Amino acid sequence: MIYLDNSATSFPKPLSVIKSADLAMRSSANPGRSGHSMSLAAAERIYSVRRTAADFFGVENEQNVIFTLNCTAALNMAIKGLLVPGDHVVVSTLEHNAVMRPLEKLSEKGINYTRAKVFAEDDDKTVDSFRHSINGKTKMIVCTHASNVWGIRLPIERLCALAHAYGLLFITDAAQSAGVVPINMNDGYDIICTAGHKGLYGPMGTGIMLISENIRPDTIIEGGTGSISFSLSQPDELPDRFESGTPNYPGISALGAGIEFVSKKGIDRIRKHEFELIRYLYNKLSKMDNIILYTPIPEKEHFVPILSFNIEGKHSEETAALLASSGIAVRAGLHCAPCAHEEIGTVKTGAVRISPSVFTSFNDIEKTLFSIRKIITAK
Ligand code: ALA
Repeated sequence: MIYLDNSATSFPKPLSVIKSADLAMRSSANPGRSGHSMSLAAAERIYSVRRTAADFFGVENEQNVIFTLNCTAALNMAIKGLLVPGDHVVVSTLEHNAVMRPLEKLSEKGINYTRAKVFAEDDDKTVDSFRHSINGKTKMIVCTHASNVWGIRLPIERLCALAHAYGLLFITDAAQSAGVVPINMNDGYDIICTAGHKGLYGPMGTGIMLISENIRPDTIIEGGTGSISFSLSQPDELPDRFESGTPNYPGISALGAGIEFVSKKGIDRIRKHEFELIRYLYNKLSKMDNIILYTPIPEKEHFVPILSFNIEGKHSEETAALLASSGIAVRAGLHCAPCAHEEIGTVKTGAVRISPSVFTSFNDIEKTLFSIRKIITAK
């Protein structure tokens, strides 16, 4: 199979990631719960992955790295833990349902939001549209670092500065950018949420919430942490405050190997490779009849290496099914981000998304182009 669905989850995983999960499963006691050697070893491994993640994202104190089930869980914890009735939030027009659904749910409690338009390739206009969406009740800006559908990157450094200039919190969803675009807590973010199983090459069921020293969201999940067990109240200390229940030890251990893999390869090299593939694909597609492209050619400053398109007259799911029958795995439909499709006018058709990884080759892209040509010719 030619796997081009890495924005959903990366595949294959590096051997070191598989080995790390395997090893953890073979010596898997509950970390931080018991005093025997296997439990202690698991707790030590989790600590070392926390440190690895902290170094990767520029977090000084590794306790501020919270392991979560996925990016969605991290975003729910951040958003629901900080907002109270009467608050207002600014989001972008390209948000995933991981942001929109929690906000819709909170609107039942009188928490409102405004969607600020994103202008691909015009950061000044994007920043202005966020600025104009702020009102007297705005408490935070929450936005994606890069659209999971269109690959459009938001100027999050500038949006973070804007938020702080207005005394607002800034939270970003880095699910599609972590491991491909550098992102560093030292740039002043209040919270960064990300997936562990995409550009960080960890297993599914892993996510991260990075939290600054200055804020302590309320908890939305409470339970056993293996610490201060005499108390019926949730501990305040990080990471325990946000890590109740038995952790995904094999997943976290393997995520550590994934982050090490990315560090060794180098984010810049990974991004360069993926962009070469995507730009090649874009150039070839743009010369084909019956292909609809929705963005300017993706370049490094304003995009992440993702490309979505359609074939004239075909629903994206139909194109994806035809590609699947040729052994090519892509994602179609709305990608859990209907707002991003509203922006581009593809709510009815969805879009076919091609998302490469460090393991994708030019040959994979050539074969995909061949199959796309075949679908067009057979029309
Ligand atoms: N959010 C993931 C995607 O874009 C699953 O496919």
